[in-house]
Amino acid sequence: MPKLWGGRFEGNTDEFAEGFQSSIGFDCRMYREDITGSIAHARMLGEQGIIPKEDAGKIIEGLKGILEDIDAGKVEFSVHDEDIHMNVERLLTERVGDVGKKLHTGRSRNDQVATDFRLYMRRSVDETTQNLIQLCGVLIDIAEENTDTIMSAYTHLQKAQPTTLGHYMMAYFEMFYRDIERLIDCRRRTNILPLGSGALCATTYPLDRAMAAEELGMDEITRNSLDGVSDRDFALEYLSVASICMMHLSRLCEEIILFSTNEYGTLRLSDAYSTGSSIMPQKKNPDMAELIRGKTGRVYGDLMGLLTVMKGLPLAYNKDMQEDKEGVFDAVDTVNACLQVMCGMLKTAEWKKDMLQLGAGRGFTNATDAADYFVKNGMAFRDAHAVVGHLVLYCEQNGKAIDELTLEEIRKFAPDAKEDIFDAISLTTCVNTRNVPGGPAPEAVNEHIRQAKRLLGEL
Ligand code: ARG
Repeated sequence: MPKLWGGRFEGNTDEFAEGFQSSIGFDCRMYREDITGSIAHARMLGEQGIIPKEDAGKIIEGLKGILEDIDAGKVEFSVHDEDIHMNVERLLTERVGDVGKKLHTGRSRNDQVATDFRLYMRRSVDETTQNLIQLCGVLIDIAEENTDTIMSAYTHLQKAQPTTLGHYMMAYFEMFYRDIERLIDCRRRTNILPLGSGALCATTYPLDRAMAAEELGMDEITRNSLDGVSDRDFALEYLSVASICMMHLSRLCEEIILFSTNEYGTLRLSDAYSTGSSIMPQKKNPDMAELIRGKTGRVYGDLMGLLTVMKGLPLAYNKDMQEDKEGVFDAVDTVNACLQVMCGMLKTAEWKKDMLQLGAGRGFTNATDAADYFVKNGMAFRDAHAVVGHLVLYCEQNGKAIDELTLEEIRKFAPDAKEDIFDAISLTTCVNTRNVPGGPAPEAVNEHIRQAKRLLGEL
């Protein structure tokens, strides 16, 4: 079978080289985008009188049939035809005859692949956004149920100050909401039509690019044909957002793994999201969380891969750019799967409120509040810091928490202390009085939750 571009060739492609340079094995994923792009192109060619309208009609019917058959699994692609674009064109001509050969008028595979990829990435951006919205919803649900579930927050992984599980979950909401915002921004620059850029210097046919853009639901057309065929920033932006999102997921996983250790004991993963050991009968491992953490590496790799493919490329299209897709597809699959697993894992996990509370009572998480108590009674903060430092040392030596000391013991370090210090440094007071926007007080977190729901509702 001759190649679609075979005219100027006398010899055949080496068989191994043919397989090597073919992309059908992975770009077949974009068959839907390829066909809808071609339908829009054909309709525009007909409307503009570049090809007869009835030919355009036949092409469109043929393409629709191909789409149905691929959907139904009835089509087998061929390596011989290199990529999805030429496979579809070959099928079309087989089905509708010579009019099929008119489809590629005023078009190149270079602007075609750029169009397909953008359409595919638009869909991927939307899918990832939906998964993120789901995850944000789960975080809000957990937060809402736990605005007064006291736990310790950490710096340096050392107990720092008391907070609530609600406050904690809403910190993750913020991270994932920023990912959504980034995706929305990335979508703006993705949803632009390069078709009409031709191979690189546009075309002499009177194309109506805006008409094709409108049919494809794209907001704009690209402004320079050289850039139109060689820009892959939209894919890099997706990979960047995906990498940041995986970093967020990975941080959450790290905490899930820590919290579900026997040492912390504050989180119990459901059986549905844990696995056992082939030798140690007692084991229940947080494999899903570890895997998400691990898969973060491959998404970073996908980003680095494409950045590196693009870095030395002269204008305009270069075959190197065929290497743009696999990594991106891998990232799309990975981040979407990880987001879904994270949703399920969080929804079914059980937080051990008693252990969270118990943990917050240890490690002197109320030491800052003890210092603040003395400040409110007239001491300079630096002095109060020193007094409480000594108190903590005394507590450590005597195996007690600050609030387990007697007033007499406290007065040895701070003669001004009164009975009301115990209320001032109770965990509940510590949390409830941190009532500034962004703080852990239930009132502040409830306000954050209201705002978060509003933000999600506006998407
Ligand atoms: N399969 C190619 C790709 O994915 C399509 C464009 C090929 N263009 C060319 N002139 N070889 O990039």
